[in-house]
Amino acid sequence: MQTEVIDIKTEYDRALEKSAEFLRHGEVVGIPTETVYGLAANTFDENAVKKIFLAKGRPADNPLIVHICDISGLSALVKEIPEKVKIMAKHFWPGPLTMIMKKSERISDTVSGGLDTVAVRMPKSEYARAIIKASGVPLAAPSANLSGSPSPTNAKYVFDDMNGRIPLIIDGGSCEIGVESTVISFAEDPPRLLRPGGVTLEEMTELIGEITVDKAVLDRLQEGAKAASPGMKYKHYAPRAEITLIKSDFENFKRLTESENGVTALCFDGEGERLHCPFVEYGDGNDGYSQSARLFDALRELDEMGAEKVYARCPDTSGMGLAVYNRLIRACGFKIRVL
Ligand code: TXA
Ligand code: MG
Repeated sequence: MQTEVIDIKTEYDRALEKSAEFLRHGEVVGIPTETVYGLAANTFDENAVKKIFLAKGRPADNPLIVHICDISGLSALVKEIPEKVKIMAKHFWPGPLTMIMKKSERISDTVSGGLDTVAVRMPKSEYARAIIKASGVPLAAPSANLSGSPSPTNAKYVFDDMNGRIPLIIDGGSCEIGVESTVISFAEDPPRLLRPGGVTLEEMTELIGEITVDKAVLDRLQEGAKAASPGMKYKHYAPRAEITLIKSDFENFKRLTESENGVTALCFDGEGERLHCPFVEYGDGNDGYSQSARLFDALRELDEMGAEKVYARCPDTSGMGLAVYNRLIRACGFKIRVL
């Protein structure tokens, strides 16, 4: 299969026409969002949705997020809309927030991974919403990476993973947020945070009160335990390099990188030039948003450099830092050292 890439910034009309045409004909299209790129298909076309799993190599029990462009699209997807969801939607949609509810009979088991719930998000990206609108249906879309590798934050990375596997990628430039959306379940009360992302725990708690933080957010899922969010149990965001997360101040981190051979550092902006080893920087040490915007690119850059042994600086876990920490502990396979 030939994979065409259309730049929506320079060819807006053609990008929308072509993506709508493919989506209506049951094909999978790579689309930009403000978080990461997605692999989209018509939610109501089971064969099309199956092609997503095939293109990604994704396990069938890992459900997809359904993307809508308008709040009026929500009621067809869910059994009922809880009060707290209405409040959250008003405040954070469109945006990097995915809310899980009991699914309606229109959502197939293929989309929901066999669960009785469905995850829904209205992206902030104008391009994403224009593509959904042009297709005329809600779009089921996971991140556009091959299963297990870091989510792509630009069209080139989608192409690297999906060339020959899907017919079309829409290039909308770099993703502003750079890590995936926050996933929170309203199928229970208090709601449960399953994946931290572009909307922070603090912001949500301020709006709706108590939120349970699922164990898998900050830790490895215990052997045999049932994952509230199936995606949490799979190896994720993992570059080829072996990464260890180092909880320490900069001076101790520097000493560690100097005590061994063959080390590459994954550090904060401005720190690299003070080290004596190759490095990749992943944002301002005091700004979680700057880190999230850089993290997945930085992980792919480590691979491009051929890095083998990587020591990574540890982010602060408040605000947006929680999402960065959550991705990093998975990228390093939970190898953490405290100095
Ligand atoms: O920002 C994002 O959320 C991106 C863009 C494309 O929108 N999408 C994305 O999708 O990250 P994906 O499939 O890579 O991650 C969705 C996560 C997975 O961990 C999945 O297990 C979980 O959400 N999930 C989806 N539906 C669920 C459900 N009904 N119950 C529990 N977890 C669910
Ligand atoms: Mg993903």
